Order: sequence, then C-alpha cells, then structure tokens
Amino acid sequence: MSFDFDTARPRYDTDSQKWQKYRGRDILPMWVADMDFPVAPAIVEAIRERTNDPIFGYCRPTDSLIEAVVEYLENRHNWTIDPEWLVWLPGLVPAINLACQAIGEPDDGVFTFTPVYPPFLIAPGLRHRELQTAALRHRENTWEIDWDATAAAITPRTRLLLLCNPHNPVGRVWRPDELQRIAEMAEAHDLVVCSDEIHCDLILDPIRHTTAGVWGRAVADRLIVLHAPSKTYNIAGLACSYAVIPNTRLRHALKRAAVGITGEVNNFGYVACEAAYRHGESWRQALLDRLRANRDLIEQTVAAGDLPGMHMTHVEATYLAWLNVEALKLEDPVRFFEEAGVGLSGGGAFGDDRYVRLNFACPESTLREALRRMKAALEKRSTH
Ligand SMILES: Cc1ncc(COP(=O)(O)O)c(C=O)c1O
Repeated sequence: MSFDFDTARPRYDTDSQKWQKYRGRDILPMWVADMDFPVAPAIVEAIRERTNDPIFGYCRPTDSLIEAVVEYLENRHNWTIDPEWLVWLPGLVPAINLACQAIGEPDDGVFTFTPVYPPFLIAPGLRHRELQTAALRHRENTWEIDWDATAAAITPRTRLLLLCNPHNPVGRVWRPDELQRIAEMAEAHDLVVCSDEIHCDLILDPIRHTTAGVWGRAVADRLIVLHAPSKTYNIAGLACSYAVIPNTRLRHALKRAAVGITGEVNNFGYVACEAAYRHGESWRQALLDRLRANRDLIEQTVAAGDLPGMHMTHVEATYLAWLNVEALKLEDPVRFFEEAGVGLSGGGAFGDDRYVRLNFACPESTLREALRRMKAALEKRSTH
C-alpha cells in the first residue's frame, strides 16, 4: 500500500496550532513538533467506526487497547509489562509535571540534560523544585553526555532525573552503555528516573531504542516511563498518552498528584492509539523513509555550505534538526527566518539561544522551499 507523504497542504485556515500562527503571512511553519502528513488510513477508519456508536461519555481503555499496548511494548521494545503498571494521561507534558510534583519535597532537585524540550526546564520550577542541569557536549558530528558536569550538578537534594530518549532537540538515541551509567547514577544517588520516550518509534538510523523499562529489576522500582503514539502517528490533537510505572508506591504517588488536575483521555485518542499500534506499521515504515530522506537533504544542504554560517550534527532520531546559528550573529534568529518566510523554534526555550530547531516532517517540496528561502536570506545578508 502506498501512502501520500508528498502532497503539500497549506493549513493556515484550519484548527492547526502550527499553521494558524502564520495565518495571513507567507511563512512555512516548521516549529511545533507535529507533522504535515495525513495519518494512517487505519486510524481514520477506526475513528469513523467509533462514531457509529454516537455516545461520547467519560471513557476508559478497552481490554483490547490494553492488550495492544502490552503487545506493542513487548514486540517493539522487548519490555514485558503488567497492565496494572499503566497510567493513562491526556499528555506527556502533564506527566512530566506530575512526576516533579510527586517525587520529593519542595526545593528538592530535578536534574536534566540541556538543551532539552522546554517543559523539562519549566516543570521543576512550577512544582517548586530546583532545576539542576548539565549541558550535553557537542563533539564532532554528535552529542554526548558530559559525565563530569552531570556529577557536579547532582546534589544530595536531587530526587528526580528527567531523561529524554531519543533526545529532543539534538536527535540522539542514547546507547545501552550510556543508559547503564544513568541507571547506576540513579541507584547511587537514590533518584527516580522519568524517561520520556515519546520519540522512540522515530529512529532514522539502524540503531535500536533501549527503553528504560529493560534496565533491569534493580532500577525498575525507580522508573516512570512515558510513552504515547502521538508523535509517531501524528495524533497529538487526540490527546492520548500513558506512563508505565512498575512500582506500586510510585504509581500511586503519580496518580495522587493528578487528582483534580489532570483531565480524561478522549474517546478518539484511545481508538486512534489502538489502531496505530495494531495497524500502523506499514505507514510508519513509509513515514520513516520520508523522514530519512528529508533529514539527509538538510544534512547535505548544510554540509555543502548552502546555508552559509549554519551548522548541525547528525540527527539519529526524531524529525527535528538542531541548527547552530551562532556564527551568523543574528539579533533575533527566529524573526530573521520568519522574515525570510520560514517559522522555526528559537533555541533559547530549550536552553541554548545559539540554535534554532527546524521540524522537517513535511513533504519534500515544502522542505526544499524552506531551505531555498533560508539560503536566499543568508546570501542576501552576506552581500550587504
Ligand atoms: C520529548 C517530548 N515530550 C513530550 C512532548 C509532548 O507531549 P504531549 O503533547 O503529550 O503533552 C513532546 C512534544 O514535542 C516532546 O518532544
């Protein structure tokens, strides 16, 4: 079966958060992390079928959905879970906040690696915890953990480590040896690890994602693993995510923190999740082909010097390119590229304003046009 990843659909006048931002302006939106591709036909079909029973009250996951999630974790990520460990949530940003709220006491520390998805940096403060960070190190064509900086940042008050694997925005897939060190650190400092694995089915290189769930019995009791079909299958608007928490006490602590605050998952989110896991694999494989080709196009464009002054490292996973614009000495990089007709995310919110993030989950024609606009703006600037 072939799927359409090529037709460009301008969506300025739709409900799309990504496109509405630039309504009435000729700016290609390449910021927030959702994709410009229609979802797998099996998801549309499942939602349509659900409307045949036109009652949409409060709902719960069906046995069949739970079975699909258990099978997904087992078959794709080699992790055997007990269905009891699942906590359903309308989003993973709430989950990150709940983890900060549930673990430790006010003024305890929450550690994370930077640059990182902004809610990792914001949630600790919102929950009256101290944010502790260590910058990832840029080396050759990749990013690595600075273990000395990490050891220096963790204090006796650190209670929680927020891990992003694969890592948004640098696109690294953390390898077993790196994860092993993180697990050892968690044990040594008695930390809970909250591992956000929302991008784990978007691996572009021939590398396996290692879920924190398989780190072993010794660390299982200190784990909160966050999953969702939303990034991979482009269903973020359907608000269906889940945490997997093997330890009963920890699971109850997270559920308690959610009482009265976190809303319900909606009916269509559950339906789409099951359809994605059961019937979305051929679509996902076709998607990965498109994303790989787009990733290669950006990397080749940057390597060829066609975006003069911009640099990037190899993207192993996600559909996000983390582009260094430091040499351009732009006062406001986001505004510069918006004026060129391309809407990017500024790096400051991720913890490093020398960068911008480009979402390349779009048809090739859209990406080529964006790169053309960026190149033209940079060339024009260098001749002034
Ligand atoms: C690492 C990471 N976690 C969570 C989210 C979003 O979570 P949700 O939309 O489920 O709140 C994103 C979205 O880009 C993300 O990159």
